[in-house]
Amino acid sequence: MKQPVADHARGRFITLEGGEGVGKSTNLGFVAGLLTAAGLDVQLTREPGGTPLAERVRQLIVAPSGEQVPPIAELLLIFAARSLHLEGLIRPALAAGRWVLCDRFTDASYAYQGRARGLGDETVAWLEARVQGELRPDLTLLLDADPAVGLARAGARGAADRFEQERLEFFTRVREGYLARAAAEPARFRLVDASRPLEDVQQQLRNHIQEFLQVNGKI
Ligand SMILES: Nc1ncnc2c1ncn2[C@@H]1O[C@H](COP(=O)(O)OP(=O)(O)OP(=O)(O)O)[C@@H](O)[C@H]1O
Ligand SMILES: [Mg+2]
Repeated sequence: MKQPVADHARGRFITLEGGEGVGKSTNLGFVAGLLTAAGLDVQLTREPGGTPLAERVRQLIVAPSGEQVPPIAELLLIFAARSLHLEGLIRPALAAGRWVLCDRFTDASYAYQGRARGLGDETVAWLEARVQGELRPDLTLLLDADPAVGLARAGARGAADRFEQERLEFFTRVREGYLARAAAEPARFRLVDASRPLEDVQQQLRNHIQEFLQVNGKI
């Protein structure tokens, strides 16, 4: 796991990833509870968003508009929000020893804009290097499910946003993009079968967090 020795007192950066409706937001509080129970100071956040200005950029990105949004424009807005989030919240929290738990991060850019919108990994990687420098999540919990499962769950939740209006093939590519990321970085990723009932999903999450806390000397 990418963890510079000099950064020992720094908090850990954990991300929850996955396609629409797989249960990221539902499980954010659950994972936070596990970390808090281990005596850790936890900062919950989400992307795009996490600071007042970044949340405004989020609205620009997700709200349906009559205007065509070129994929590169979408990606640049997301990285603009990410830069605000990193400097305004994530880096200061980690430096203060807090553990940051984020609902989506740059793996989503690889899956959605890189893969599903077809911009390619290199474009995302270029922005990642410039916006984040060396910073990467220490642990990524990937909630994986057939897109039909997540879309049915998200659909029951209310009006569709700009992403939820995409077709099923789009979300199949998102899933493939995420699975490719996980295969390329097995040390950072933990896969969770998100098609299972919630208690089962949370048992999987508990096991992964327990292992991570052990490796990091927290239990
Ligand atoms: N394991 C599960 N089984 C059944 N329903 C679930 C499960 N996990 C979450 N849900 C329900 O599915 C819906 C979508 O969950 P949630 O909003 O957490 O997904 P999400 O991954 O955050 O979605 P989005 O990508 O749109 O933000 C919610 O109504 C939630 O209660
Ligand atoms: Mg959500």
